Amino acid sequence: MFVTFEGIEGTGKSTQIGLLDAWLREQGRATEITREPGGSRLGRELRRILLSMESSDLTGQAELFLYLADRAQHVATVIRPALLAGHDVLSDRFADSTVVYQGYGRGLDPKTLHGLNEVAVDGLWPDLTILLDIEPEEGLRRALARNIAEGTHASEGRFEAEHMEFHARVREGYLTWAALHPERFRVVDASASPEVVHARVRELVAAALDEKEQPGLRM
Ligand code: TMP
Repeated sequence: MFVTFEGIEGTGKSTQIGLLDAWLREQGRATEITREPGGSRLGRELRRILLSMESSDLTGQAELFLYLADRAQHVATVIRPALLAGHDVLSDRFADSTVVYQGYGRGLDPKTLHGLNEVAVDGLWPDLTILLDIEPEEGLRRALARNIAEGTHASEGRFEAEHMEFHARVREGYLTWAALHPERFRVVDASASPEVVHARVRELVAAALDEKEQPGLRM
């Protein structure tokens, strides 16, 4: 089963992935946690470039193709092999981030981006995408608090430094895109405590697992 987590900064994606991973393992399932950008060896190089402050002169198009290259390599060398080995894959961001950040956020055409994603993912779409939704002000507040607590290097802070209007566009873009793909997206209110959010995530994952393992038995 392939589950992706999406959302603006500070929604608690990595916390939720950790909690879900622990729960799936308790159920006796093998799991693999990964992320974009940076899920593969090439991707880790690309992540450094994409998130570094010095690359802020990257053109929108160049940035787009780096994300797509990261994704193509990630699918081929990490995600597909893990799924073929029978593991559940939990990814912190995937193709929807490109449609939302480069599309709704930066103004490239979402349909064109979806087409480019089709090339990058080569037929491998998530079984379930959990959109953790939160007000941008709250997300940014949490992301900044986390950066301070973790002493995150300034070079990882390019996106979080973007103005609030951009984050608001991204948040709305996610909700719009999720509504266009109801078969795979589930929106979860991420303003609650991590435990409450996790309980909801678990319900959604359990339902998706039932559906995948016993197709047709559930509505
Ligand atoms: P994160 O690992 O903290 O989520 O940071 C990754 C940043 O990269 C985040 O601001 C979203 C951005 N991003 C895109 O703009 N497009 C993409 O396709 C992906 C995967 C991430």
